[in-house]
Amino acid sequence: MREGTAPLIRREDYTAPAFWIRTVDLTFDLDPAKTLVINKMAVERNPDQPGASLRLDGEDINLTRVLVDGEPVSFRVENQQLVLDNLPDQPFALEIRTTCAPGKNTQLSGLYTSGGGFFTQCEALGFRRITYFLDRPDVMSVYKVTLKADKLKYPVLLSNGNLVEQGAIDADRHYAVWEDPHPKPCYLFALVAADLVSREQRVRTRLGKEHLLQIFVRAGDLDKTEHAMQSLMASISWDEIRFGLSLDLERFMIVAVSDFNMGAMENKGLNIFNTKFVLANPATATDVDFGNVESVVAHEYFHNWTGNRVTCRDWFQLSLKEGLTVFRDQQFSQDMAGSASARAVKRIEDVRTLRQLQFPEDAGPMAHPVRPDSYMAIDNFYTATVYEKGAEVVRMMHTLVGEAGFAEGMKLYFQRHDGHAVTCDDFAQAIADANPESELTKRLDQFKHWYTQAGTPRVQARGSYSAEHKTYTLHLSQNCAPTAGQPAKLPFVIPVAMGLVAHDGRNLNLHLEGEALPIGTDTVLVLSEPEQTFTFVHVPVEPVPSLLRGFSAPVVLQAELGDDALFTLLTHDKDPFNRWEAAQRLALRRLLQAVSGHGPAELDPRFIQALRGVLRNAELDAAFKELVLTLPSEAYVAEQLDTVDPQRIHTARESLKLQLAKALHEDWIWAWEQHNDCGAYSPDPVSSGRRALANLALSMLCLDGATRHNPIWTGKAFQRFKDANNMTDRLGALGALVNSHADLAPDALSRFHEQFRDEPLVIDKWFTLQAAAPEKDGKVFARAKALMQHPDFTLRTPNRARSLLMALCQMNPAAFHRPDAAGYVFWADRVIEIDSINPQLAARLARALDHWRRLAEPYRTAAREALGRVMAKPDLSDDVREIVTRALQ
Ligand code: ARG
Ligand code: ZN
Repeated sequence: MREGTAPLIRREDYTAPAFWIRTVDLTFDLDPAKTLVINKMAVERNPDQPGASLRLDGEDINLTRVLVDGEPVSFRVENQQLVLDNLPDQPFALEIRTTCAPGKNTQLSGLYTSGGGFFTQCEALGFRRITYFLDRPDVMSVYKVTLKADKLKYPVLLSNGNLVEQGAIDADRHYAVWEDPHPKPCYLFALVAADLVSREQRVRTRLGKEHLLQIFVRAGDLDKTEHAMQSLMASISWDEIRFGLSLDLERFMIVAVSDFNMGAMENKGLNIFNTKFVLANPATATDVDFGNVESVVAHEYFHNWTGNRVTCRDWFQLSLKEGLTVFRDQQFSQDMAGSASARAVKRIEDVRTLRQLQFPEDAGPMAHPVRPDSYMAIDNFYTATVYEKGAEVVRMMHTLVGEAGFAEGMKLYFQRHDGHAVTCDDFAQAIADANPESELTKRLDQFKHWYTQAGTPRVQARGSYSAEHKTYTLHLSQNCAPTAGQPAKLPFVIPVAMGLVAHDGRNLNLHLEGEALPIGTDTVLVLSEPEQTFTFVHVPVEPVPSLLRGFSAPVVLQAELGDDALFTLLTHDKDPFNRWEAAQRLALRRLLQAVSGHGPAELDPRFIQALRGVLRNAELDAAFKELVLTLPSEAYVAEQLDTVDPQRIHTARESLKLQLAKALHEDWIWAWEQHNDCGAYSPDPVSSGRRALANLALSMLCLDGATRHNPIWTGKAFQRFKDANNMTDRLGALGALVNSHADLAPDALSRFHEQFRDEPLVIDKWFTLQAAAPEKDGKVFARAKALMQHPDFTLRTPNRARSLLMALCQMNPAAFHRPDAAGYVFWADRVIEIDSINPQLAARLARALDHWRRLAEPYRTAAREALGRVMAKPDLSDDVREIVTRALQ
C-alpha cells in the first residue's frame, strides 16, 4: 500500500527519462496467491544524462532477482524505487523477477482478480504494481508477453497485439504468447486470463484490410454484446470518414469485467471495460445505458489514435488525450443521433453534465486548470475538468477554425507527432498551424489560458437598441473569480455564437457595423478583451439577443433578460439549445425565488402556459420536451447560491414540481397516452425520447396522485411496471412509484429484486433508485443506511458501492445533508472503511463534501467535523488525503 506521505508532484519539474526501455519481454506465471513475473528489458541510456542512476518504480511487489546482461548486480530499494547505479553507457539487458498477489489486490490497480479471472488496470500508475519499471508515459516500448495459467480455470489468455503462439505446458496448464508491434507506454499494457466467451465479427475497412473484432464476456452475458459490437463497428467507420483514421491492428478486443474503478480503459488492442459500459440488452439496460455503451465504446476506440498512437508526455497533459477523445465521442454520438433535433438533445445532455459536475468543481477546493500544475495522486485528476471542460476547449478550437480546418489540424497533428509522447501545447499548435488565418491562430497564446487558468469565466451581456438608427449595440464583458493559487486571471478567448430574435419570432439577419454585407442569422463573435462592444446595423425592430448558441463556450452567461425576452427565445429561437436554456432560466428564476422566500411560492400562469405550449407543440420532439419540462436539479440551484441550505432547496423544488404536476394534469395524461406505446424496443433517439417523456408524465401523475391519495395512477404505474417489455419502461414505472412514495412501491421493489437477482447491473439500479429517491421525513436516508446490510451489498465491487453511496451522498442532497449530521457521520465512516480497501474509490466518495464551506449552519460545522475525522485516520491514503486536505485548506 502506498504510504500517505507523498510530496506534491509539479508540472514544472518535468525532466526527460534517464533511460529508455526499447523492448519488454514479460512472462507471467499466473496464480491468485502468488504470481511470478519475469521482466526482460532492453535498456538504453539517454545520452543527455550520462552517469545517472536508473530508478524503476515498484509498489506492493516482492523483488526476487535483478540481472544486468545476465549477471547479478548490486541494487537498493528506496521510496518504492529500485535503484541501479553505475550502469553501462551501451545498451544492456535488464532482467527483473518479482511476485505479486493478485487475489489480494482490492485496489483494482495493477493485476487483480475478479469473478475468478485475472485482469489488469495500469493507467495511471498500475504497471508498477506488476513489475519494476519506468512507469511514465514518455517511455515507450515494444512488448512481447507470455501468459501461463491453469487451462480449466483460465481458458482464455489475452494480451495486447497479436497472438503468435499458444499451446499446452502440461496436463493442467497452458500458455499463450502475444506480440504488440506498436511501441507503447506501460499504462497501455493489459492482460486477461479468465473463463470467457466471445462475440466475433470480421470487418473490412476502407483501406481494404481485414480485422477481427471480439467482445469477451462471462458465459451468461453473450446476449448483451450486440449493441457494443454495433457501436464498435460504427466507431471504426466514423473515424475513417471524419478524420481519415483507420484501425491499425489485425485484432481489436473488448473485455468486460465487473470489478473496475472507472468506466473503461483503452489498452492497445485490448480494451477492458466496466460491464456497465459494455453489456446492454432491452431487458436489462435502459435507453441511457444504451447511449452510454455507444459513447464509451467509441471513446475507448478513438483513443487508439488520440491517446495511443500519440500519447501524453506526462500526466499533467492528461487532457491532451481525454479532452480530445471526449470531444470526438461527443461528435460521434451527435452524428449517430442523426436529426438536428436529436443532435441538440445530445448537446443539452452534455452541457447539463458539464454544469452539474464541472462548474461546481471549478468553484470548489478541487478547482484545477485543464492542464493541472501539481498533484499528490494523479488518479484524483481524472476529473470533469480534464475530461468535460477539456472537451469544451477542443470544441472551441473547432468552432474557431471550422470543421474542415479542424480536420486539417488533426492531420498535421498526426504527421508531426505519430508515435510520440507530447503536450497540450503541441496539439494546439498543430490545429493553429493548419489554419494560419483563423481567429485561433491570431490569438493562440491567449487562447491557451483555457489550459492554464482554473475557474469558470462569467460573461456579462448588455444590449441596447436605437429605434432611430436601427442599430443594436451588444456590450460583452468577462471576468473569472480567483481560484486556489490563481488570484488574478487574464482574459480568455471566448467564442460567442449568437443571433438576434424579434419578438414576433423572426430570426433577424445580422449585419455588423463596418462590414459590407449581412452574414445570415447566426454568427460567432470572439470576445478576447475584458470588455468589447459589437454594433449591428439595419436592425428593423428591437431584438432579443440569443447568445452562446449551442453553448459555444464553457462560461456562465449573465444576460439579464427579462421574462418577456426569455419567453420569446423559448418559443422562437432557431437554436434549440437556447430554447431549452430559456426555459431553464425561467424555471431557475422561480426556483430561486421560492428558495429565498422572496417572491411568490406559486408558479405564474404564464410560465405554466409556456411549458404547456412546449409539451403540446406538434413540431417538437419528445426528447426535447422532456428536457424542457424537467426542472433544474437541486445541485444546479445550489450552484447559484452563496449560502446553500439543501433542505430549503429540496422543499422549494419539490413544491414547484408538484405544482407542475397539478397544473398540467390533463397535459400529462395526454402526454402519457400519446407516448407510452413505442412498440418493439429500439434504442434510437425518437423512441427513447418518447419513452423519456412518457416516463416523466407517469412520474408527474403518480406524484399528484400520491398527494391526493388517489390510487389510479400509481395503480397504472404498477401495471406498467409488471407489463413493460424493456428496462427503460420498467424502471421508469418503478421510479414513478418509489419517487412518489406510493404504497405500492415496496411490493414493486421486492418483485424487481426477485426478477433480476442474477443481473448485477440491474441490482445496482435497484440500490440506486432507493438511495436517490426524494427524501421524505428521513425515510430515504434510513432506508439507504439499512441497505448496507443487504446480502447483495458489498464495498468491494466499485459499481455496487457507488450504486448506494454515490446515490445517497452525491445525488441526493436532501437525504445526505441532515440537520442531525447523521449523513456526514455515515459518509466519514464509509470513506474510512473504503480507504483501506480501495483508495481510488474512497477518494471519489470523499468529494461529496467538497462544498462544505458554502453550506448554511448547522450543516457547515458538522461537515467540517466529519472531514476532520477522515483526516485523522491513521494510514490515510494519498488519494483521500489530497481531497480532504484541499477541502480543509
Ligand atoms: N483512460 C481511461 C478513459 O478515460 C480512464 C482510466 C483512468 N483510470 C484511473 N484509474 N485513473 O478512457
Ligand atoms: Zn479516455
